Amino acid sequence: MKFRILAQEGFARSASFMGTHGQTETPCFMPVGTLGAVKGLTWEQVKGMGYSLVLANVYHLYLRPGLEVIEAAGGLHSFIGWNGLILTDSGGFQVFSLGRLMKIKEEGIEFRSHVDGSKHFFSPEFVVEFEERIGVDIGMVLDECTPYPATYEYAKHSMERTLRWAKRSIEARTTDKTALFGIVQGGVYEDLRLKCVEELVKLPFDGFAIGGLSVGEPKEEMYRITRLVAPKLPPDKPRYLMGVGTPEDILEAVEAGVDMFDCVMPTRNARNGTLFTSRGKINIKAAKYRKDFSPPDPECDCYTCRNFSKAYLRHLYASGEMNASILNTIHNLHFYAKLMERIREAIKGGYFTEFKREFLAKYRGG
Ligand code: GUN
Ligand code: ZN
Repeated sequence: MKFRILAQEGFARSASFMGTHGQTETPCFMPVGTLGAVKGLTWEQVKGMGYSLVLANVYHLYLRPGLEVIEAAGGLHSFIGWNGLILTDSGGFQVFSLGRLMKIKEEGIEFRSHVDGSKHFFSPEFVVEFEERIGVDIGMVLDECTPYPATYEYAKHSMERTLRWAKRSIEARTTDKTALFGIVQGGVYEDLRLKCVEELVKLPFDGFAIGGLSVGEPKEEMYRITRLVAPKLPPDKPRYLMGVGTPEDILEAVEAGVDMFDCVMPTRNARNGTLFTSRGKINIKAAKYRKDFSPPDPECDCYTCRNFSKAYLRHLYASGEMNASILNTIHNLHFYAKLMERIREAIKGGYFTEFKREFLAKYRGG
């Protein structure tokens, strides 16, 4: 893995990340392909939008199709037919949010599958082994995502366990083909976050993520923790804000020095009929679009906006056509790709602050 800073403005940076299966420029957004697919799109479409790094998930892939199938296919890349970079989240977060959590033990997490109720166990060592064996470019360590709200005592114990698991994860590594990222926890408590950073950066991780945010806390809390943590992470390693976020969240976090993002929002919202545009979000279901033959975003040059009107997309949605999901997803992921590209250009050109102000004025102004 190679990470090279290309330009910097304040804390914001633009960099180039090189992994085993390719290269991406940062700040970047990673489309969510939990089960080895970005819902509704082909990889060709994903790549065509400029994405070269996508997200998948250990919890999901472990349950279906399972390690045996992925290994027999020759690894995750060949199994899913994607020749770019892949980052897998460890599944800790998904066990908490999806699975029927059984027990968090010092050894690991006991859980029941949300698919068939079967019993399973994840240790930090197993997650690293799984990620290395399926051959992803970046693996995330098993962590405990502290919920919000959480008491100080709870957040402290949960952060300390995440640290102990981080050490075990590092010791479980067997190859540098899969880069390993540590995860900062600590809830909304500044001293816990700082302690977590202090300990975590002593370990030879290839990058660092900020976890436990966007879990129901007020935006200001999320921004406060991001602004506190990001600048304290090693400047020469990638920084990843997990599960974030809206265009506004991304701009705030880039300003704080974050390099990587993922969020279900552009893809999930697309399937619910919510489109991101340069003048804010629109809901394609709205009656006012019944005879609106203009594109979703006149400033967007995606396939959807070049060819289809809001009235048509509303009709597809109302009729339950799968093309509604597909065309909306194309637009939203294109919008996010374009936003990240403009952010990178702005940092390189030294006008990120102005770009952020102007983008938000328009986005919020409607
Ligand atoms: N995705 C969003 N937040 C988190 C987190 O705190 N931990 C992990 N592993 N994944 C996440
Ligand atoms: Zn578009």
